[in-house]
This record gives sequence, structure tokens and C-alpha cells, in this order.
Amino acid sequence: MRVRVDGEERIAEEGQTVAAVLLAAGRDSWRTTRFGGRPRGLFCGIGVCFDCLVVVNGVPDVRACLRPVAEGDDIRSQDGAEVPS
Ligand code: FES
Repeated sequence: MRVRVDGEERIAEEGQTVAAVLLAAGRDSWRTTRFGGRPRGLFCGIGVCFDCLVVVNGVPDVRACLRPVAEGDDIRSQDGAEVPS
């Protein structure tokens, strides 16, 4: 399936998570912290740490390690974080 990562088209496989697509794209970070702008990406990989927050289809704070990709997803880096939901 086709998705976009920060505007660049990528091919993803059914069942991959957003984090897997980002890692396959060579990214090791895709969010910056609210304070200090430090880079964050995959850490726990099981939905606990909230380090992997990313914007998917305009929705912020999506945990990349839990969200399966879907055809046409627009995945974008995130600055800071909203309150985890
Ligand atoms: S890597 Fe920890 S919640 Fe996604």
C-alpha cells in the first residue's frame, strides 16, 4: 500500500505499524520533546512510554508502535506532545 512520510511516498506492507514504516524509511526519530526539542522515536515498542508520538492524517499523538498503517496514510513528524489519551 502507498503511504506518505513527511510528504515522501513510501510503500508499506499490510500489518506493518507506523513505527515499522518509519524505521524502514531510515528514521530513528520523528518527534521532538516539548522542552528542549530533543529527538524521540521508538523506545518501548509496546505502547507504554509514549515516546513514539506522531501525526497521522492530521491527528497528533498517535503511538506509532501500535497503529497499523492504512492505505493513503499521511504520516508526519510531531513537535512536542499533547496530553496522552
Ligand atoms: S515506543 Fe513506547 S509507546 Fe510507542
